[in-house]
Amino acid sequence: MAKHEKFRFKSTLELIAKSRELGFDLPWSESVDALLQPALIQGIRVANRFTVQPMEGFDSDEDGMPGELAFRRYGRYAAGGSGMIWFEAASVLADGRSNPHQMMITDDTLEQFKKLTDHVRKVAEETFGSDHKPFLVLQLTHSGRYSNPGGDFQSKIFSDNPYLNPPHPPTPSPALAALTGEGEHRGVPDTRHPIPDTRYPIPVFYSDSDIDAVKAAYIHGVELAEMAGFDAVDVKACHGYLLHEMLYAFDRTDSRYGGSYENRTSFLREVLNTPSKIIKAVRLSGFDLIPYPYGFGMNSDGSAAIDLLEVKNLISEFAPMVPLWNITAGVPRLAAHVGRPYDRGAFNSPPPDEHPLQGIARLIGITGQLQQTFPDLFFVGTGYSWLRQFYPFVGAGVLENKMASFIGLGRSSFAYPDSPRDLMEKGLADPKKVCISCSKCTEFMRQGGPAGCGVRDMQYKAGGRGQKAKISNKKQDVK
Ligand SMILES: Cc1cc2nc3c(=O)[nH]c(=O)nc-3n(C[C@H](O)[C@H](O)[C@H](O)COP(=O)(O)O)c2cc1C
Repeated sequence: MAKHEKFRFKSTLELIAKSRELGFDLPWSESVDALLQPALIQGIRVANRFTVQPMEGFDSDEDGMPGELAFRRYGRYAAGGSGMIWFEAASVLADGRSNPHQMMITDDTLEQFKKLTDHVRKVAEETFGSDHKPFLVLQLTHSGRYSNPGGDFQSKIFSDNPYLNPPHPPTPSPALAALTGEGEHRGVPDTRHPIPDTRYPIPVFYSDSDIDAVKAAYIHGVELAEMAGFDAVDVKACHGYLLHEMLYAFDRTDSRYGGSYENRTSFLREVLNTPSKIIKAVRLSGFDLIPYPYGFGMNSDGSAAIDLLEVKNLISEFAPMVPLWNITAGVPRLAAHVGRPYDRGAFNSPPPDEHPLQGIARLIGITGQLQQTFPDLFFVGTGYSWLRQFYPFVGAGVLENKMASFIGLGRSSFAYPDSPRDLMEKGLADPKKVCISCSKCTEFMRQGGPAGCGVRDMQYKAGGRGQKAKISNKKQDVK
């Protein structure tokens, strides 16, 4: 493991030299042209290869309506020029929200989502002309063990549950059966994940019928996404949330959702099989670095080795119905650097014992393997923000080497949403505008939002909780 270090590079070549010294061959290109090429997904034109990654802003109202700040954020993305905008996690159920200000896609919020997609298309057209129609994806979520709809882990559901005794309030969870009964807490089984720390509350076990109810909400969510004007809908299966945890419910017994590959993937299968015509997508944690049986994409010998066998089986099986895959990794609440390499961890957490370039090379390498195994599918790559103004050269190299079809930008989109536009117009990204991977956006999120860039965006510079009072969250009335 190479020592962690902060970004200090003055050129792409210096960066590439460092990656070689560390033993990774990062692709790169002298030209950013590959990023500017259009793509065609099931007959829909995508103007270029930039993707705004889903980034929760936690700025909706109690009903989950996208508010004024959401219109601002998505308007900035639209004016920034990305061909694809992957909208943040929208919960399909109130109980599955990770935050009281997380968006929700429901019958009640549908009209507001329609206004939001109209708004984004209008801003894009005004900025780039009628040829430029951003491809819009909505991510559906249920936060599973990280659900926190009340903002204080005081879930109102399962109110007859003994876990409702403070100071150990519950979160709903798929609660893998293998994880129940391992320990006891106040006379009830401790369903905490044995690998994660205990900062999070003990989750409530979800029976098959609880999961059936969530599935029905997802299926409805797919229909709502189509009605709201999205081009595609993402059935999110990553980052430790409900559907991701279900993929590694290896030891869940006597259940339609646990044990065999067939059972663990049956939720995804049924939701993706819905007759809705909208294009289906999946954001998938392709590996977790959490050993089997507590992670997906890991070798079943229990080591820390990545094993893509089941990941490939899943993609191969779902390929006929899912043309678009967005590959991420791990569970950010346990090890954020795995999926988003950084200079400084949130709340000054100790640096990981690997170099950020190692994490980036791992994400690029795994996504590349999947893209090359499934050349007809579209893969979005993750983890580029740490590369700052040099991301376009690495991203273009990835595209030229057919190691992804789109280059996803998360934190960079908060900080510098118009980097695609600068690249189109000037051929370079501006070092004064780039994300510095300081984790302030993550801190805002963990403090309850709203989340944005606390360094580059005036709207968020006041920071964290302090800004809450200053920011109006009232509903946007867009005609
Ligand atoms: C504040 C914040 C909010 C995020 N929200 C989401 C989300 O809603 N859905 C999701 O799949 N990933 C989410 N992510 C992860 C990002 O999409 C992305 O995978 C990660 O930041 C790594 O990409 P980057 O290096 O370009 O930032 C979030 C990350 C941050 C920092």
